[in-house]
Amino acid sequence: MPKVTIVGSGNVGATAAHWIASKELADVVLIDIIEGVPQGKGLDLLQAMPIEKRDSYVSGTNDYKDTANSDIVVITAGIPRKPGMSRDDLLNTNYGIMKDVVGQVVKYSPNCILIIVSNPLDAMAQTAYKLSGFPRERVIGMAGILDSARFRAFIADELKVSVENVTAFVLGGHGDTMVPLPRYSTVAGIPITELIEPAKLDALVKRTRDGGAEIVKYLKTGSAYYAPSAAATEMVEAILKDKKKIVPCAAYLQGEYGINGLFVGVPVKLGAKGIEQIIEIKLTPEEKAALDKSAAAVKELCGVIGV
Ligand code: LAC
Repeated sequence: MPKVTIVGSGNVGATAAHWIASKELADVVLIDIIEGVPQGKGLDLLQAMPIEKRDSYVSGTNDYKDTANSDIVVITAGIPRKPGMSRDDLLNTNYGIMKDVVGQVVKYSPNCILIIVSNPLDAMAQTAYKLSGFPRERVIGMAGILDSARFRAFIADELKVSVENVTAFVLGGHGDTMVPLPRYSTVAGIPITELIEPAKLDALVKRTRDGGAEIVKYLKTGSAYYAPSAAATEMVEAILKDKKKIVPCAAYLQGEYGINGLFVGVPVKLGAKGIEQIIEIKLTPEEKAALDKSAAAVKELCGVIGV
């Protein structure tokens, strides 16, 4: 069985462990600095396995030795936002946490693939990339799948069709400047621009952009976790099964889309090596301008923490 470590045993981390184990994708190690929580949640999940008929071994720990030789490490550690906060308000606190975590992870799993989930997503992925020294194909940020899933859910609900029929692409940074691409979003192959009138489509795009904040406002004590952890699990599955699956993820661009030295959400092909290809799709001048604006926002945050 492959081994996946999840750093952070809060809502996102524990729910990711749940999805991964319930799909029997890997043995799972939950690690956190808080004593007892990863152990307790790990044991609880382990005891669910006979009912789920899955043989994933789930355990929890506070010691990075137990994470040794993981195939994939999903980093969810950090504080979530509260109502009124933007993801960017988490920058300095989560940078400090990310620094400690990446050093430990790399020491014990030098060959792993890193999936970054902590916010502000793109800046944290850039931090992990710079501090790990890993090649860019092994450091991937989770965001596009989540943002696209939100868009897909809203489109399916609006048209009353199966979510399975809906494909959508959201590119750019995982922030207020993210770039939903209606032109590349389809229902059973039909572009949604032919199915939903422009004003309604604009409203769905806006709701997608504010999708995380809408949930923070309801929860009050933290941010979304079912869809974020499901998105990270889709990445884990694509890698472990070498699926060559094209999904939007945050990747370190080196000239693609005219962007250099920065993590931005773009379509990538995920397989056993991590990011096996960055797919460059044609953008209209408006779409390109929106992507550039989003990249500039990511760059500004990276500048603050010097990564
Ligand atoms: C969200 C947070 C997790 O979008 O970034 O819900």
